[in-house]
Amino acid sequence: MRILVLGSGGREHALVWKLRQSPCVEKIWCVPGNGGIAQHAECVEARLDDVAALAALAEQLRPDLTVVGPELPLVLGVADEFARRGLRILGPTKQAAQLEGSKIFAKEFMQRHGIPTAPAYGVYDSPGDAYTALCAVDWPVVIKADGLCGGKGVLVACTPDEATAFLTRLMEEHEFGPAGERVLMEEAIAGQELSYIVLTDGENILPLVPTRDHKRAYDGDRGPNTGGMGAFSADGMISPELDEEIRTAIVAPTIAGMAAEGHLYRGFLYFGLMLTEEGPRVLEFNCRLGDPEAEAILPRMDLDLVETLLAATEGKLSSVQPSWKPGASVCVVLASGGYPGKYETGKKIEGLSEANGATDVVVFHAGTRRVGSDYYTSSGRVLAVTATATSLSDAVSRCYRIVNTIHFEGRHFRRDIAASALPSVAAGD
Ligand code: AMP
Ligand code: GLY
Repeated sequence: MRILVLGSGGREHALVWKLRQSPCVEKIWCVPGNGGIAQHAECVEARLDDVAALAALAEQLRPDLTVVGPELPLVLGVADEFARRGLRILGPTKQAAQLEGSKIFAKEFMQRHGIPTAPAYGVYDSPGDAYTALCAVDWPVVIKADGLCGGKGVLVACTPDEATAFLTRLMEEHEFGPAGERVLMEEAIAGQELSYIVLTDGENILPLVPTRDHKRAYDGDRGPNTGGMGAFSADGMISPELDEEIRTAIVAPTIAGMAAEGHLYRGFLYFGLMLTEEGPRVLEFNCRLGDPEAEAILPRMDLDLVETLLAATEGKLSSVQPSWKPGASVCVVLASGGYPGKYETGKKIEGLSEANGATDVVVFHAGTRRVGSDYYTSSGRVLAVTATATSLSDAVSRCYRIVNTIHFEGRHFRRDIAASALPSVAAGD
């Protein structure tokens, strides 16, 4: 098997690392990849926002399967274009990827199918209507730009001033272009968040182990939102009853609803949930694996990933029996100083070779560049260190032992990943 992976972050490194373990894999390319991914795959430069160029590249390389990491190419229709040219790809079509590409589509879809979600106030395409609507909401209110904004299109606004300023940036200053010209406003709901990701062939569903992301930059969930500073999974993290409720009230009707509307959904589907006192509610869908959730999930997967993904592309996922390593996993992201604001790159990373020798710990590269045998930082999130163990507390201590041995100028990371599930552990000390 020759496999093409699209993407360049820690999620794609985890995918490539797991695919590489499959005995049937002969060759992997990653577009554009990164310094760490280059250990397992041939990295090829290309833009992820140019679907025709990606398809042309695939026609040249002739992979047996293409796996897509990030949302952008999917929302732009990469799966449709590959399918049109007879290239096998795992990922939803452009229409199906609207679950992530349009928050308004997603909300209306959930309303049509009775999928539990936060109640909406309305959809607005003129700034005047949006400002007026603020007079009748309860606070805090949640404002969502309709389109893709790289994780910056949602604000939980506590005051009218904050809400107005955000609406102005979206709808009058066009900070995110067309993506912010229509907005959805909804009620703020409270609870713990959970990332519930499944692989589906459009009919059958293979749930992955649930995970919890840590989106804020600093310990104690303080500071600005980031792409994710760490994640964990653990057996028993949710009760079997809650798992069943998520599957029957949320996952199954979503997959069936998409099929019934003529948008068969194939690929990974990420349900961003809020576990409220009234039950689980969908905050968002993502048409892909999460990052850093993938780095916490894939090291626990006890399946041949290539066979599993092929089964999903062929509508044969019912033949795959889920199998997970018992216990837990913890992933801690090492970020550049200043991230998610301004940061410098090009800092030399020390301690990687020692870390690579550790048992049950994998260092995924999220943003690195290789020069000779050395690695340098190249983006905001730099490394994602994952440890697996039979207990969450062992995974936490194993993970931080390695994190503490890796250094680069300005490095910052959260010291409390998984700590809320484990109050007695002083993680990063
Ligand atoms: P989304 O991209 O829709 O998941 O929004 C990003 C983040 O905003 C979520 O991970 C939540 O932390 C928060 N959020 C979104 N919708 C709501 C809501 N209705 N109530 C409370 N928080 C929300
Ligand atoms: N970690 C959140 C996401 O991938 O969207």
